[in-house]
Amino acid sequence: MSWDLYLAEKAALVEAELDRLISQTAYPPVIHQAMRYSLLGGGKRLRPALALAASEAVAGEAHRVLPLACAIEFIHTYSLIHDDLPVMDNDDYRRGRLTLHRVYGEGMAVLAGDALLTEAFAILAETAGQWPDLQARYLEAMVRVARASGRQGMIGGQVVDLESEEKEFGAETLEYIHAHKTGALIQAAVWCGALIGGASRTQLAAMDVYGWHYGLAFQITDDILDVVGSRDEMGKDMGSDRRKQKATYPALYGVERSVDMAAREVEKAVAALEGWGPRADLLREAARSLVYRRR
Ligand code: IPE
Ligand code: IPE
Ligand code: MG
Ligand code: MG
Ligand code: MG
Repeated sequence: MSWDLYLAEKAALVEAELDRLISQTAYPPVIHQAMRYSLLGGGKRLRPALALAASEAVAGEAHRVLPLACAIEFIHTYSLIHDDLPVMDNDDYRRGRLTLHRVYGEGMAVLAGDALLTEAFAILAETAGQWPDLQARYLEAMVRVARASGRQGMIGGQVVDLESEEKEFGAETLEYIHAHKTGALIQAAVWCGALIGGASRTQLAAMDVYGWHYGLAFQITDDILDVVGSRDEMGKDMGSDRRKQKATYPALYGVERSVDMAAREVEKAVAALEGWGPRADLLREAARSLVYRRR
């Protein structure tokens, strides 16, 4: 199966589960509507699909990784809601429609993000209790996801991203920002997917290397698409980074060199799975597809 087809199939599976997880009718209605607006309003579902593919690469069962995949999509969605707020990137479009704060107001957007983040950990803890044979692995995944999201993961990256606006920055700072604000959660999705799937420590070490390079390549291509991409395909306003004078790869290296650097990260991601044989084909293709991505 091709990665595109796999992604489409898993996106549908994950969306049905996300829909089930946040009720349409619970009280207070507005927070549930706001969460559902962001959660179910498009999105590639890349992180969930990567978690599922990593699990498959070690012969794991998809239905046992699904709660992890959804929890990670909750956290990713929360990060987008907060990232778009006026006090952060101040963006009006996301996933092909108005950002959450433009529709529900800033207060509700902050709260919907908070609720998605906390709910994610409730899902993980509940799942740990549900399957005794996976309890230890789910608890380990919880720690990894928490750390990947927090002060030395995504939040750390977002902090340096904010602090670097309108300032001169170097290669090291830039790599830190990208590896953390975006790379850490992607890397955790891959690593935890494999962990829940039953991976050995040696296999997990390879997944870590793959996830690191995949995550970096993904954010470099996000930067490139902010310059050369299309609003229709990306579902968000282009040129946002330049307006805010963000620390990006194109800003430091230009688009052409950034494309080469992304390609180099992709090669390193693929190389991490050397010797894995056909069971890692999906992950390899997922990485290679980044070079050509338009959305
Ligand atoms: C956007 O992530 C934010 C970044 C980390 C670059 P995605 O490009 O995966 O966004 P969705 O989930 O498909 O909307
Ligand atoms: C987003 O980086 C990283 C997180 C949301 C954690 P960007 O600010 O570049 O993402 P977009 O371009 O708004 O999607
Ligand atoms: Mg940002
Ligand atoms: Mg942004
Ligand atoms: Mg961006």
